[in-house]
Amino acid sequence: MRRVLITGGAGFIGCNFVRYLLREDPDVHIVTLDALTYAGNLANLAALPDPSRHTFTKGDICDEALVVGILREHQIDTIVNFAAETHVDRSIFETAPFLRTNVMGVFSLLEAARTVWVDAKGWGREQCRFHHISSDEVYGSLGPHDPAFREDTPYAPNSPYAASKAAGDHLVRAYARTHGIPVTLTNCSNNYGPYQFPEKLIPLVILNGVKGDPIPIYGDGQHVRDWLHVEDHVEAVVNVIRRAKVGESFNVGGGVQETNLQVVQRVCLLLDESLPNSEFVPHENLIQFVADRPGHDRRYAMNSSKIEGELGWHPEKSFEAGLAETIRWYLANMDWVENILTRDDYKEWLARNYARRAEVE
Ligand code: NAD
Ligand code: DAU
Repeated sequence: MRRVLITGGAGFIGCNFVRYLLREDPDVHIVTLDALTYAGNLANLAALPDPSRHTFTKGDICDEALVVGILREHQIDTIVNFAAETHVDRSIFETAPFLRTNVMGVFSLLEAARTVWVDAKGWGREQCRFHHISSDEVYGSLGPHDPAFREDTPYAPNSPYAASKAAGDHLVRAYARTHGIPVTLTNCSNNYGPYQFPEKLIPLVILNGVKGDPIPIYGDGQHVRDWLHVEDHVEAVVNVIRRAKVGESFNVGGGVQETNLQVVQRVCLLLDESLPNSEFVPHENLIQFVADRPGHDRRYAMNSSKIEGELGWHPEKSFEAGLAETIRWYLANMDWVENILTRDDYKEWLARNYARRAEVE
């Protein structure tokens, strides 16, 4: 991993990955390719450690000629694909962008890798790597007593987002088997941490809490997610790229399985501690149960024993400490936040997603 193309590097997890790699590996050169959709933000790539080893290109992963050009010009040996449409609620309102980026975009990256690495150079497993970032959502929903998802759990996606991610994963596997692209794949659980776009649960709760807006919990709040700090996810991916056998996939989870209500209550208590003089203490009073997400998966849980056993990775950050740190990050970066919250497209999204939910209850 010397000359790395990071797609979606202006998004939440991608920008944390870019920072980590520049900080941790003095020899790495990075090209970030990002279309700067509503979720992409150049501010996420500000003040990088050693920016001279980082190049940003605005562009679409569906543009195969562009990707081929980048692979050739920068002699890329590693692709890490974070680029995706990622919000389940948006995939319910409008599915086409999910199919375009999460399926056709993956196809385009794989074709570019085939053209430049395999057809032109005859590169194999020692010379290059295509690492694809995926989600636990491809496995579907667990009942309360079901064992956690393993790497051999059958795919059973329930949302348009999850179905698009599953399709992308299948293409990655097929290109490895058919065309000899050296791939690895990670399926990760819910991330939280700095730079997460405010539409997602944890930043939404923090920011609505700070502003005294209602904190919406879908349905009965008993849905369970498996939370992992973004830096632990980044370390898992780096470990897999450096040390895993080509062709392998790994489940990555935090082992913290809590109901949404418990998570929201935790954040509210931490807000009470961080902002003791706020007129909104106790922040828990802002909680409002609203209409459920259609097709809402009841429970996710990851069995991470493969990556823990084979690569010695395990999550470092406790949920309590990670959440407190995340709240401090948002409070210290209210300019970053306001630049998003004041955008018309973001206000329109909030109105579209939440206006009718509250009425329904
Ligand atoms: P995000 O929505 O914050 O960022 C996605 C980035 O991809 C944005 O910068 C956006 O501009 C870019 N992008 C979108 N379409 C593009 C295209 N066609 N071409 C180029 N760039 C494009 O997403 P995230 O939360 O950082 O997720 C990153 C990856 O991790 C995704 O593949 C997602 O499915 C996966 N994942 C996320 C989580 C999570 O909890 N956030 C958990 C598991 C897996
Ligand atoms: O599990 C991994 C997935 O985690 C990733 O693949 C996705 O890209 C990422 O967005 C995330 O998906 P979720 O749907 O789990 O995340 P979200 O933050 O949207 O919601 C978390 C839970 O909180 C979910 O059960 C829905 C619920 N929720 C969410 C919002 C935005 C609410 O109750 N109220 C809300 O307002």
